[in-house]
Amino acid sequence: MDARAIIATLRQGRTPDADALGWFAQGLADGSVSDAQAGAFAMGVCVNGLDDTGRAAFTAAMRDSGKVLHWDLDAPVLDKHSTGGVGDCVSLILAPALAACGVYVPMISGRGLGHTGGTLDKLDSIPGFRTTLTEDQFRHVVGQVGCAIVSASADIAPADKRLYAIRDVTATVESLDLITASILSKKLAAGLDGLVLDVKCGSGAFMKSQDDARALAQALVETAKATGCPTSALITDMSQPLAPSLGNALEVIEVMRVLTGHTTGRLAELTIELGAALLQQTGIDAGRDMLRAAITDGTAAEKFGEMVYAMGGPVHFVEDWVRFLPEAPVIREVTAPMAGTVAAIDGEALGLTVVALGGGRQVESDVVDPAVGLSDVVSIGDRIAKGQPLARIHAAREAQADAAEQAVLAAITLGDRPVSAPPLVQEHVT
Ligand code: URA
Repeated sequence: MDARAIIATLRQGRTPDADALGWFAQGLADGSVSDAQAGAFAMGVCVNGLDDTGRAAFTAAMRDSGKVLHWDLDAPVLDKHSTGGVGDCVSLILAPALAACGVYVPMISGRGLGHTGGTLDKLDSIPGFRTTLTEDQFRHVVGQVGCAIVSASADIAPADKRLYAIRDVTATVESLDLITASILSKKLAAGLDGLVLDVKCGSGAFMKSQDDARALAQALVETAKATGCPTSALITDMSQPLAPSLGNALEVIEVMRVLTGHTTGRLAELTIELGAALLQQTGIDAGRDMLRAAITDGTAAEKFGEMVYAMGGPVHFVEDWVRFLPEAPVIREVTAPMAGTVAAIDGEALGLTVVALGGGRQVESDVVDPAVGLSDVVSIGDRIAKGQPLARIHAAREAQADAAEQAVLAAITLGDRPVSAPPLVQEHVT
């Protein structure tokens, strides 16, 4: 095999065969392919694309470039992946709710990316919680509790780690084939019996249009199925934050409100829809009722508490979460400059506001402030009187709150006509 021949095939608009793509993925992982070759490969795929067979072969090879877990458990091993949104803390509710329904969820998650928050950063706001476990610890928590949410260890899909960093600096992130292979290689390495994908669409998502979201959902579902993992996707609305809070500890508060029965908004609704789609794939048709019951009867909260304790957090977190979560020193309301109906919310701008407050990273080495963010954000269609709050800012310093106030006012559009929010679930791709 020769990297130059593989790159030349791509340049000519043809898809290299499965052996060649497998060889290239292995070369990314073991370093025998150079950075220059990896960059040229990424550009070849980005410009000319892979056919369906090639995309599946490359995804499987990226998965197999490192450790692939196998489980010997008495119920299906399932997971969910979201393409990233704002106020999206579904994973923190869904993993324990599914565990309460008797299935296993070994969830390998990520940190914040761009304007979107990361599940691991949210969990880090719980004192003592460790998202880095050894494989034995990960297996133990999944086996005992039913769910664990961890970061990917270095030996999970190493080909993707290398290629992702190269794509980032060669303007080749935006390739449907490479995004598909990247997302799925890491998820499939967890040894799943089923996967559901939440493909976000709208102002707070990477995919702003429904056509782009549909194309990504179809590529993800077809490719995952071709590699042997039963998968479906929901295309879901991200024209406004999923939960009224954005920020790490603030989103954990939203999670605890749902798990302790105090909220039933879009966040709870989407959690149940994604879980029901996943359970249905394994032949469980009553998933919606089971998940709703697990949330309302407290068993999902119990599982969350068991997971927190098993992963280093406080033993009584679920009973006393208010005491454990950090609070920002500056809390300020942003009030409406005029009366109106909330017509639009720029979710990306709100996400970037949280990053600017210190709730996300501008550069990789930034330390995330768990306490900052936005809460009580209004929803599309809300009627607002002049002077009524649009959101509450949680900041480390007054000057940061000043900048966030201007950003929030610019991100929320008030109109004078009644508006209804788009449906939460827009399509189910099977
Ligand atoms: N998330 C990933 O893991 N990979 C991509 O390419 C895009 C989003």
